[in-house]
Amino acid sequence: MIIVLLGPPGAGKGTQAARIMESRNLVQLSTGDMLRAAVAAGTDVGNKAKEFMAAGKLVTDEIVIGIIADRIEEDDCRDGFLLDGFPRTIAQAEALGKLLNDKGLKVDAVIEMKVEDESLVDRIAGRYTCADCKRGYHDTYLKPQKAGVCDGCGSTDFTRRADDNRETVTARLATYHTQTAPLLPFYEAQGVLRTIDGMVGIDDVTIQINNVLSAL
Ligand code: AP5
Repeated sequence: MIIVLLGPPGAGKGTQAARIMESRNLVQLSTGDMLRAAVAAGTDVGNKAKEFMAAGKLVTDEIVIGIIADRIEEDDCRDGFLLDGFPRTIAQAEALGKLLNDKGLKVDAVIEMKVEDESLVDRIAGRYTCADCKRGYHDTYLKPQKAGVCDGCGSTDFTRRADDNRETVTARLATYHTQTAPLLPFYEAQGVLRTIDGMVGIDDVTIQINNVLSAL
């Protein structure tokens, strides 16, 4: 099964991808995570991507298409995967379609997580992550069971993303509306777009996604 999670920054793509990965045994391919790892490692790709990410702009299509083209060749993608944050432009969607077509595959569903802009800034401003196992939390909406201790690995070390500041979030939202939103009619025309209400609580979003996946 090949699933795309589509939605603006802070919509909950990463949160839900982690849950689907566990429940459906699908590997999560997050271009944002891959690019952040490249930046942290100081690779050539990371050095090229760094400034775009800090400004809330998209990294070039060439770079991200290259990353995904290599990644889907790996063994763990053989039975399908869940794309989180890719594609983000029509050029990326067309490249993905071609890569899959060459393998006799196609996108099974594109799940649009619809969330109003006002809620997104609040979600992003409160987001933090376990520095060790990368489990995600929120100051208000998703706290660890024991304050200051990660539920997943027990670490007490947490981080916040460099691009999760108010200025960059505004730029990321504008980028979403101009460059990524055109993917909605693109995938609707292919009959694979499924829209869910991302404004409800995390568990209720998971239920809606599971309903979409079960119907496939
Ligand atoms: P990326 O890492 O993909 O960031 P993004 O799309 O901006 O999305 P986020 O990770 O910010 O949000 P999310 O939807 O995953 O929300 P989350 O689940 O964490 O990209 C970063 C940058 O990399 C881009 O700006 C670009 O420069 C570059 N890039 C990446 N991919 C690219 C591509 N394909 N092409 C070009 N450039 C690319 O949730 C947010 C918070 O809200 C969490 O704290 C969570 O606990 C909470 N939350 C989640 N769901 C709910 C809910 N239902 N109710 C209340 N709170 C909730």
